[in-house]
Amino acid sequence: MKFAKRVERIKPSPTLAITAKANALRAEGRDIISFGAGEPDFDTPVNIREAAVRAIQDGFTRYTPVGGIDELKDAITEKFQRDNQLIYKKSEIVVSCGAKHVLYNLAQALFDEGDEVIIPSPYWVSYPDIVLLSGATPSILKTGEADGFKITPDQLEGAINKRTKAIVLNSPSNPTGSTYTFAELEALAEVIVEKNILVISDEIYEKIVYDGFPFSSIAMVSEDVKRLSVVVNGVSKAYAMTGWRIGYAAGQEDIISAVTKIQSQNTSNPASISQKAAVEALNGDQNATGEMVEAFSERRNYIIGALNKMEGVSCMNPDGAFYAFPNMSSLYGKAYGDKKVTGSASLAEYFLDVANVAVVPGIAFGSDDHIRLSYATSMKNIREGITRIENAVKNLK
Ligand SMILES: Cc1ncc(COP(=O)(O)O)c(C=O)c1O
Repeated sequence: MKFAKRVERIKPSPTLAITAKANALRAEGRDIISFGAGEPDFDTPVNIREAAVRAIQDGFTRYTPVGGIDELKDAITEKFQRDNQLIYKKSEIVVSCGAKHVLYNLAQALFDEGDEVIIPSPYWVSYPDIVLLSGATPSILKTGEADGFKITPDQLEGAINKRTKAIVLNSPSNPTGSTYTFAELEALAEVIVEKNILVISDEIYEKIVYDGFPFSSIAMVSEDVKRLSVVVNGVSKAYAMTGWRIGYAAGQEDIISAVTKIQSQNTSNPASISQKAAVEALNGDQNATGEMVEAFSERRNYIIGALNKMEGVSCMNPDGAFYAFPNMSSLYGKAYGDKKVTGSASLAEYFLDVANVAVVPGIAFGSDDHIRLSYATSMKNIREGITRIENAVKNLK
């Protein structure tokens, strides 16, 4: 079969692939510990599940308006006002089938062939492919541990040319966990406003920050940058609702209308029942999120400490999200028997084959020096998995 060129332009999500491989090995009877998952290991809080059951029992099971029900848009505008001091009208909000779907629709609505979209690396795996699917070209801006995996205003300015349409910011970041301060966002906003490019700000990990780190959205910096911002968020990570598929965007009315138009010809509305559940997530008791973050914080402290104790491994202490992103490049060139480690992909393969531990190679996120470990798994799994990695690292000669 000859497929459309766009199929060749992209790759399947490597994080989903690792999770699938770990599950397949488990099904064969192997005792695999997975650090692959990009989702909280907690159940959706009971009040949210009950809201969904009520929606079903009330017969709220038909098509809704394409861009989401008014009740959910109200909950979202109130969330922005309460958490970020950002004022949006309902006409400036669209709800889609997850933040990934919002990002896909945005790229379809905004980007054309010939446009460039700046993506700081390490990046979430889907950004380059979503940009490629729109016909535009990703322009990768490299960051490293030395700058806390954050871009500087000078770096941003140097990367902008006349084809640049937008930059994708992700704070807290998947995979590094690095999180921009308000002052850092202010400095980037100055360049964004001066150069008049759009900023797509993926804030899906907003609620997962540690040690009281004050989360800021770039749209909070000024009215000028808010006008150029599309803020993307959702309920997947903050409320352990990855399967429900609800994400949303806030931005200028014309952009939101264009996204809604695109959505009207692909999925139509996000699931009616999930929308009712999301209303409860945003308006209801927020304690469950706090409890999850407390558990993530304890795990973060353990895993980052343990990784940094390993010979030749260094790992930045992340301010947000639930990933450790250690640099393991000093192991490249070493071997265990016939298993030679040459980069992050072969290291991940080595850990899976020899230690029964699944991790995601950094190359998937644009950095071959690193691997990603999700600590959205139990403390028991983390302790056992880390011990296995420790031994596997020691065995490399
Ligand atoms: C940075 C980032 N953005 C967006 C998403 C997608 O979230 P959703 O489940 O809402 O599609 C993820 C999920 O892994 C993510 O890590």
